Amino acid sequence: MRHPAVRRQCDRQICRENGIEAGCGWKIVRQQEEFMYYPDDIIEEVRSRNDIVDVISQYVSLKKKGANYFGLCPFHNEKSPSFSVSPSKQMYYCFGCGAGGNVITFVMEYENYSFVEAVKYLADRAGITLPEMEDSREAKARRDLKNTLLEINRLAANYFYYQLKQPQGRPGYEYLKNRKLTDETITHFGLGFANKVPDDLYRYMRSKGYSDSILKETGLFFIEERGSRDKFWNRVMFPILDVNNRVIGFGGRVMGDGEPKYLNSPETKLFDKSRNLFGLNFARKSREKYLLICEGYMDVIAMHQAGFTNAVASLGTAFTAQHAILLKRYTEQAILTYDSDGAGVRAALRAIPILKDAGISVKVLNMKPYKDPDEFIKNLGKEEFQKRIDGAVNSFMFEISVIRSEYNMQDPESKTGFYNAVARKLLEFPEKLERDNYTEAVAREYMIPAEDLKRLVNSLGGRFGTAARPEGRQEDRPRKKKEKDEGIRKSQRLLLTWLIERPPLFETIKGIIAPEDFTDDLYRQAAVMVFDEYEKTGTIEPARILNQFIEGEEQYREVAALFHARLEESLSNEEQKKAFSETIKKIKRYSLEEKSKKATDIKELQDIIRQKSELAGLQISLE
Ligand code: UTP
Ligand code: MN
Repeated sequence: MRHPAVRRQCDRQICRENGIEAGCGWKIVRQQEEFMYYPDDIIEEVRSRNDIVDVISQYVSLKKKGANYFGLCPFHNEKSPSFSVSPSKQMYYCFGCGAGGNVITFVMEYENYSFVEAVKYLADRAGITLPEMEDSREAKARRDLKNTLLEINRLAANYFYYQLKQPQGRPGYEYLKNRKLTDETITHFGLGFANKVPDDLYRYMRSKGYSDSILKETGLFFIEERGSRDKFWNRVMFPILDVNNRVIGFGGRVMGDGEPKYLNSPETKLFDKSRNLFGLNFARKSREKYLLICEGYMDVIAMHQAGFTNAVASLGTAFTAQHAILLKRYTEQAILTYDSDGAGVRAALRAIPILKDAGISVKVLNMKPYKDPDEFIKNLGKEEFQKRIDGAVNSFMFEISVIRSEYNMQDPESKTGFYNAVARKLLEFPEKLERDNYTEAVAREYMIPAEDLKRLVNSLGGRFGTAARPEGRQEDRPRKKKEKDEGIRKSQRLLLTWLIERPPLFETIKGIIAPEDFTDDLYRQAAVMVFDEYEKTGTIEPARILNQFIEGEEQYREVAALFHARLEESLSNEEQKKAFSETIKKIKRYSLEEKSKKATDIKELQDIIRQKSELAGLQISLE
């Protein structure tokens, strides 16, 4: 007996007459019944008792602007705020990247929580006691893929950890001890051992009742008809935890030499390599203002053991913009402690602009003569490492030093080439003041007369223009039909947004527009709910309506966009009125056209033609 309101909508004349079955709310009811864990009214209570502005303020700094709040979007890189939070709609929406939803989806996206986890978190925050799940619901919750994968990963981590302390885990334990890890560190990071038996973990998981189909999704096994095997065996195991201390994957190292040195879990529904950093669950709690970014598991662990608990590593993948966005939640400053070999330098050069783009200032630590932080600390100790941290150079000066190493300063031609390269690099600073400061710093460091370098920068700048950046790729020209469809969808979004923001408009459009005029399936589902809620209560709570779209699919994003459409802001009052009337007509005309395509008998067609001609002469007033 869920979604009674939606169910009733499906008995509406309109739905039956038009045979809109798949499109109206009913389908959602069916889909969601299989996913739902808590009754609707509880979820609604949890939602409504967590004010969205309060909750998001915990994560994002918001400023009031008119009726809404704005801040920098936590879901994409940006320098000026396009992330809005509406207290009246109780929704957020980013006009830059299109992320949007209500307070529940925010917590899901920000914390990477499943729906159930988000509801539990918010219930707790508001002091609401959730009812016990019924047995069948509990079972269903466990069947939720993401939850099950978390459970299996957690079990696997415990299993590996247990093995390490058993006689058969001796080689792993000794390997870690040889690498100077203390028992405390081993426990802190939950390190473990995968046995030499090829299907040890597999049999363990089967004995716990997990099916092959779910085990396959974990990335921990090769599931094959001839017999299934573990992916990891005879390796020391590093569990990878997300910021909320949930095990999302593993790295496994061979003991001694062997290929590959590290095996990692593949990407799964849980594990997105470009959105997770090893060690961040601890580093986020460190009191230091900066984070140390390195390349490897062992580097992170060695640094933490030496007291540098603010170290993280990107895992066997290049540093991505997503990593930077994630780090920006916790810090404004990063120090790169990549390996001192060529690959490490190249990796640093790639990471620097990505971090800077996210608004993180970057320094680079010099590890020479050692290869990585692990070796450095083992040889020189933590005091020396701290000195290197204090002496870390600004990333720009690091980039210049790398450029410098490519030129022979004894050769006049090569030397000139270096000066030109430096000048071009300096031109990357759009601000004159900053550019001048760096010009002076470089001149000092490389003993170039400052005035000469400035002149060179200015002359190159004049030639190329300081903002001479190649333009981004040309947009593909969408097809005509697609353009038209998107135009209609935009109009439908605008109308729904207007109706939500100014419910009296319902009276204006009465008799002209009904939910079935929304031609997109998802839009129509939302429209049915919006119209129905207005009919029953005279008001609309978009965030409540959104609850119906959270589970299962990620439709809520699209629905959030539906409730946040914008016209050009510069429009005058007159122009807005005109736009309103045109939008209504456009939607209706398109809906009639679509209907006439499907019409089967003459009478129906005649009726559509009549409506079309009426529409042409229709006056719609915004008053
Ligand atoms: P390194 O080869 O520098 O490893 O790779 P390391 O951390 O210094 O390893 P130890 O000290 O020899 O144990 C850096 C990181 O790159 C990834 C791992 O995350 C590793 O920590 N990597 C490396 C792989 O994913 N696979 C590999 O085969 C090698
Ligand atoms: Mn190493």
